[in-house]
Amino acid sequence: MCEEKKTFYITTPIYYPSANLHIGNTYTTVAADAIARFKRLSGYDVMFLTGTDEHGQKIQRIASENGVTPKEYVDKIVAGIKDLWELMNISYDKFIRTTDDYHVKAVQDIFTKLYEQGDIYKDSYEGWYCTPCESFWTETQLVEEKCPDCGRAVEKAKEEAYFFKMSKYAERLIEYIEANPEFIQPESRKNEMVNNFLKPGLQDLCVSRTSFDWGIPVEFDKGHVVYVWIDALSNYITALGYGDKNTHLYEKYWPADVHLIGKDILRFHTIYWPIMLMALDLPLPKQVFGHGWLLVDGGKMSKSKGNVVDPVILSEHFGVDAIRYYLLREIPFGSDGVFTNETFIKKINSDLANDLGNLVSRTVTMIEKYFDGVIPAPTATESIDNELIKLALETPDLVEKSVDDFKLPEALSHIWTLIGRANKYIDETTPWILAKEEDKKERLGTVLYNLAEALRITSVLISPFLPDTSDKIREQLGVEICTWDSVASFDGISAGTKVKKGQIIFPRIDVEAKLLELEALKKEDQEEIQSMEPIKPEITIEDFEKVDLRVVKVLECEAIKGAKKLLKLKVDLGGEERQVVSGIAKYYKPEDLVGKSVVLVANLKPVKLRGELSQGMILAASTDDDSNLFTVSIPGELPTGSQVR
Ligand code: MSP
Repeated sequence: MCEEKKTFYITTPIYYPSANLHIGNTYTTVAADAIARFKRLSGYDVMFLTGTDEHGQKIQRIASENGVTPKEYVDKIVAGIKDLWELMNISYDKFIRTTDDYHVKAVQDIFTKLYEQGDIYKDSYEGWYCTPCESFWTETQLVEEKCPDCGRAVEKAKEEAYFFKMSKYAERLIEYIEANPEFIQPESRKNEMVNNFLKPGLQDLCVSRTSFDWGIPVEFDKGHVVYVWIDALSNYITALGYGDKNTHLYEKYWPADVHLIGKDILRFHTIYWPIMLMALDLPLPKQVFGHGWLLVDGGKMSKSKGNVVDPVILSEHFGVDAIRYYLLREIPFGSDGVFTNETFIKKINSDLANDLGNLVSRTVTMIEKYFDGVIPAPTATESIDNELIKLALETPDLVEKSVDDFKLPEALSHIWTLIGRANKYIDETTPWILAKEEDKKERLGTVLYNLAEALRITSVLISPFLPDTSDKIREQLGVEICTWDSVASFDGISAGTKVKKGQIIFPRIDVEAKLLELEALKKEDQEEIQSMEPIKPEITIEDFEKVDLRVVKVLECEAIKGAKKLLKLKVDLGGEERQVVSGIAKYYKPEDLVGKSVVLVANLKPVKLRGELSQGMILAASTDDDSNLFTVSIPGELPTGSQVR
């Protein structure tokens, strides 16, 4: 009977569609992908889950500002997120959206069950409310005591809400964490959770809201929607069919082997989530790993600081595998890491172009040159070969151990030790000298076989980390097989295999020139931004709708005595005549305007300018220095009084 494969279930956080995806949040998913690919390679039946966290008032607000429904808005963004994962070569097995029907239904059932068994109760939520944004904020979210989104004043407000009795399970959770030291990783984060949050006592968690409706409705109390964490965290089990008819994936994969997340959401995953699972009487995930942050210019990446590193732009310049390599090799897994263009480019040059790229091109070139591109049989082994062979055979276990401990930089470092050893082997055996002596042909053949074989093993070992590069190397070697079994012995290539020299896998980059190029790109972006007047604070669609814009026709126009800048216009607004004073005398002669259709702000409070009544304002666009100005006009015929929306 064939033995069942061991399972491995790994998850990433589900991303907010409102989060602007940058290299930082790409990091979680690239790391999870490398682990998932490695586990598949080493024989596991893997379930790799990612997805999107689509509900909440922020999405509802952005959608309404864009004049679309929340679902229309998230559909578009989610398509973009999926494109990014495709670009980054993310091999997820399932993509969950919290708007998926099965998830909505399961979350409703979970909420009802927790309520019926007394873990959820109704009370009221007190917070700071921003009326124009229709948003509740906690004290800590406020910026200088103002709304963090629009900067306006907030006021204390109360709303009815359901709460989860967290404190009921705190003792049990502390015991669990103490008895399972591997549950929260890295170790240092465990102490933070226990000492800073659990031991001082847990507050009950607000789990429903009534102030917005873009969320999963609470079935037994229709004015409420499920708020954030019960909805988001449940994805890890609903994606497997928990609460649905077909639960075979849940039976097979739960509990998860690891939830891989950023350190900022560790509290939700190591306190709220296990407590929810305890309340549901379900097993807890085996491990929650909170990785560090990827920092830029010594701080967090943010749109407002203009320091967001865009993975799409980086991939256009350096290729996806270079990004994957840098993220996985350079950021100590578990701690914060810093991204700079310079260290990134230098790493590409040293590790990818020099170490790996040269090994590939030297090996393949020599096989072409000395053996017409046919890999020879290893018939003349010498003791010096043993060191390389031994290392090549030991490396897979070392890499596996590092990946099992989620030490991805260490795993790559083991592979690069092998690459370094193979390069050294070329210098030690000097194939170009062997080639000059006819009686050394067999020895030369053996050296080149050993190099090709070391490279084959390398290509298999890097496949979870740099999948495209791995394929390219095997293509050049003329080898197809990429299995874990194949790295257990140093004879995977059959003599007679034909190599195919391809393009250089990582061309060397001129560091200075590339840095200048990237700097120029950044400047262009900044200049584009700076050349504009700063955009005014956000308004809602309701704010905008307060402005009544109308198409009007200029019936008469004259200068105002003693006011060089002003013109007095009589306009027709759908049968009603109005007088408007406009500061456009520098740009238009009165006769130029008569008969013209322009746009009027029709509900602006009337004012007197130079003693003349002005009932509205003519819209015009001008340069920042006012050297040029044009009135806004409609490019086609419309009846006067038509609305501009
Ligand atoms: N929706 C929640 C997660 C719910 S999981 C049940 C969320 N989404 S997020 O889009 O804001 O963040 C997704 C992931 O990106 C998180 O793990 C977060 O820690 C990570 N990162 C965001 N910026 C980051 C860096 N600069 N560096 C590394 N990871 C970062 O949180």
